[in-house]
Amino acid sequence: MSKVIVSGIQPTGGLNIGTYIGAMKNWKQLQDEYDCMYMVVDMHSITVRPDPAELRERCLSFVAQYIACGIDPKKNTLFIQSHVREHAELAWILNCYTGMGELNRMTQFKEKSQKNQSNINSALFTYPVLMAADILLYQTDLVPVGQDQKQHLEITRDIAHRFNNHHNGEYFKIPEPFIPKIGAKIMSLQEPCSKMSKSDTTSKATVYLLDEAKTVTKKFKSAVTDSGDEITFDEINKPGVSNLITIYGAITNQSQEDVVKHFEGKRYGHLKVETAERMNEFLDPIRSQYNELMDDKTFLLQTLKDGAERASEKAEKTLKAVKEVIGFLPA
Ligand code: AMP
Ligand code: TRP
Repeated sequence: MSKVIVSGIQPTGGLNIGTYIGAMKNWKQLQDEYDCMYMVVDMHSITVRPDPAELRERCLSFVAQYIACGIDPKKNTLFIQSHVREHAELAWILNCYTGMGELNRMTQFKEKSQKNQSNINSALFTYPVLMAADILLYQTDLVPVGQDQKQHLEITRDIAHRFNNHHNGEYFKIPEPFIPKIGAKIMSLQEPCSKMSKSDTTSKATVYLLDEAKTVTKKFKSAVTDSGDEITFDEINKPGVSNLITIYGAITNQSQEDVVKHFEGKRYGHLKVETAERMNEFLDPIRSQYNELMDDKTFLLQTLKDGAERASEKAEKTLKAVKEVIGFLPA
C-alpha cells in the first residue's frame, strides 16, 4: 500500500509564492507516488470570523488554484475540511488528550493572539488539536508543510503517542513532517527578515499566484535588497538577495549555487528583473488555467464532492476504532 500524504491550507488571504514553494510544490511532487489528501481547511479559518460569502468564494478559488498549480484532481483526493465531519469529532476527542501547557508553548498561537488581541478565542488556542485530527484520521505517513508548521507536527505526534500508549494499541500512525530543504521559509519582499505572509494585502511584500504580470514585475523591482552589490547567498548579511536567489532557484528548479553562478558579475537589478521574468513565465499558465476552472464551478463542486466521499470513507474507519476503544456506546 502506498504511503499516505495529508496537507491543507487555510482559506484566508491569498495563495502566494511562499505557500507554493513551502508547501504546494512538494504536494505536486508527491502526487505521482503516493496516496495524497489535500484539503482547504475552512474550519481552521473561522477563528477570524470571515465574511460568509467571501469564505465560500475563497474555498472554491483555493481549490481552483491547487489544480491550476498542477495538483491533479484525478490523482489526489481534494476536499474541504468541513465536508468531512469526522475532523470535528476527532478533534473533540483529541482535546481530551492534549495538555493546556503544551498548547501554551505554540509559537503560532502566541503570534496570532498578539496580533489580534480583540478576538483571542479558545479555538485559536486549540487550533493545533484540530490539525492533529486532520492528520491522524488518515493514518498519515508524511505531512508536506513549511517550516512554521513543524511545531504543530510535533504536538500531533505527541498526541498520537499519548493516545496509543493510553489505549495500548496503534490507533494512529505517527506522521513525519516533510519540509523542503530549500524554500521552507520564503521571506517578505519588503522585510526580508520576516516570513512572506498570506494576508499582507496592502503592501508589495507578498507575490500572489493570481497577481497580474505587471504587478509581479513591480513587486520584484521594489524588493528590498542589501548593502553591497555582489550577488551571493548569505542569509545573515544579505537576507533580501538570498531570498530572491531562493525564489529564483525554486521556480526554475536550480540549486542556489547554480543561481549564484548564473548571476556572477551582475548587479542586484538584474536579479530582480530576471526573477520577475521567470516568475511570470511560471505564473502565466497558472493564471489562465485558474480562470478556466473558475468558469466551470460544476466541475469544481463535483471534484470536492467526490473528494469528501473518498476522505470520509477513510476517516470513518479510524474514528470508529477510536470511539470503540474509548468506550462510546455504539449508535
Ligand atoms: P498558511 O498560509 O499559514 O495557511 O500556510 C500554508 C502552508 O504554506 C503551510 O504549510 C505553511 O508552512 C506554508 N507557508 C506559508 N507561508 C510560507 C512561506 N512564507 N514560506 C514557506 N512556506 C510557507
Ligand atoms: N495549520 C496549517 C497552517 O496554518 C494548516 C493545516 C491545518 C494543515 N490542518 C493541516 C497542514 C493538516 C497540514 C496538515 O498552515
